[in-house]
Amino acid sequence: MPSLSNAAVRDIETVIHPYTNLDAFRTSGPMILERGEGIHVWDADGRKYIEGMAGLWCTSLGYSEQELIDTATEQMKQLPFTHIFGGKSHERAAEVAEKLKAIAPHKASKVLFCGSGSEANDQQVKLVWYYNNALGRPKKKKIISRIKGYHGVTVASASLTGLPNNHRDFDLPIAGVLHTDCPNYYRDAQPGETEDEFTTRMAANLEKMIIEEDPDTVAAFIAEPIMGAGGVIIPPEGYFPKIQAVLSKYDIYFIADEVICGFGRTGNMFGSQTFGIKPDSISVAKALSSAYVPIGAVTIGEDMYQAMIDESKKIGTFGHGFTYTAHPVAAAVAAKTLEIYEKRNIVGHVRSVAPRFEERMAKLNDHPLVGQARAKGLIGAIELVVDKETKRNFDPKAAMGPTVQRACEKHGVILRAIGDVVAFCPPLIVKEADIDDIFDAAEKALNDVEQVVAKDGLRNA
Ligand SMILES: Cc1ncc(COP(=O)(O)O)c(C=O)c1O
Repeated sequence: MPSLSNAAVRDIETVIHPYTNLDAFRTSGPMILERGEGIHVWDADGRKYIEGMAGLWCTSLGYSEQELIDTATEQMKQLPFTHIFGGKSHERAAEVAEKLKAIAPHKASKVLFCGSGSEANDQQVKLVWYYNNALGRPKKKKIISRIKGYHGVTVASASLTGLPNNHRDFDLPIAGVLHTDCPNYYRDAQPGETEDEFTTRMAANLEKMIIEEDPDTVAAFIAEPIMGAGGVIIPPEGYFPKIQAVLSKYDIYFIADEVICGFGRTGNMFGSQTFGIKPDSISVAKALSSAYVPIGAVTIGEDMYQAMIDESKKIGTFGHGFTYTAHPVAAAVAAKTLEIYEKRNIVGHVRSVAPRFEERMAKLNDHPLVGQARAKGLIGAIELVVDKETKRNFDPKAAMGPTVQRACEKHGVILRAIGDVVAFCPPLIVKEADIDDIFDAAEKALNDVEQVVAKDGLRNA
């Protein structure tokens, strides 16, 4: 283990790192990044990497987008802050709201801003509760999410998240949040089950849950079009239309969590369009500002807005809002980001390079370590297995995912291990040659790891 730099030691002694084994971190220390340009970042030792994860699925326009830097600088000079409580406002708020409404995959009436994806989903829960109270349906409050869904880490959002690590020892989930099946055909299909039969079973299980709970108590369903942090799980075709039909039958509000899939990632402006989802509302964050400044948002339809107006008539103030709701710098950067997506036809660009990404990903299916390589648009993953036939996982002690992640870093590409799934999610501005560089590095890394696996007999462990 190389000795830790002074900067690393300062970090260890001062900062709590999210999603990190805090004990192991005291020995391994951080990878400190110092600067970025285009799709590249450099660490404190001057090593250059392709950021193959766009940070955390978010820096869509890469690391040196001058128009965003200029916009933030100008806004800071002109009006670095105003809140929008009690009727105050600034022009950037309506500017970004108009742009978001114009592209939203449903008939959006208004936008409620916040600072992150977690806050967006927290707001969704509160709004659904508020709405059903306004409509005189006080029992209709439960929210159905999915096993392996990821919706953030605040108390309500972490409850929606369907991953054990986000619940264990945090006393979560809260009451009233249920988790239905994860549409992972590769892992969870029954022997001989076709995709069509599988998705029919998913929808039937959801309906059974709703009936058992009593449909009058179920308010909303939330789903990411592609599950990201749960392991890049791409639903089979037909899954969402079948789920949607069940929800419509019981008057259940559909929230599409577009925090990763939004703004071009899957080859359409929203993942909802790629997967035939007709949401009632979307949550967005991350690529809303290309992650240059924190901002999230929820769009709502006219029905919900009218119900909120009725509440104001009845009880007065809408009692919700953050100091940083529609922060002017964040709103200005988000408006500029949406303008760039439009004027540079970012969706068209994703569509033009995605076939290369999907083709290079598919090739990884031939590698002995890869059980399944999957991709849609510019998001994908490989799932590492001991044996392709049985899909048996490696012993968790072998930490195969993190091992492959580190090997990729040695070859100059940052990817992200989620257990033994390794995720790919490059900035949307990648060119075909960059995609080749990413996959060339990943292939070399997999070959390096395969040599160790064979030499150390890790398949027999
Ligand atoms: C689909 C989805 N929803 C919500 C969140 C939470 O967003 P944040 O980390 O900005 O709170 C994430 C974060 O990765 C996400 O992927």
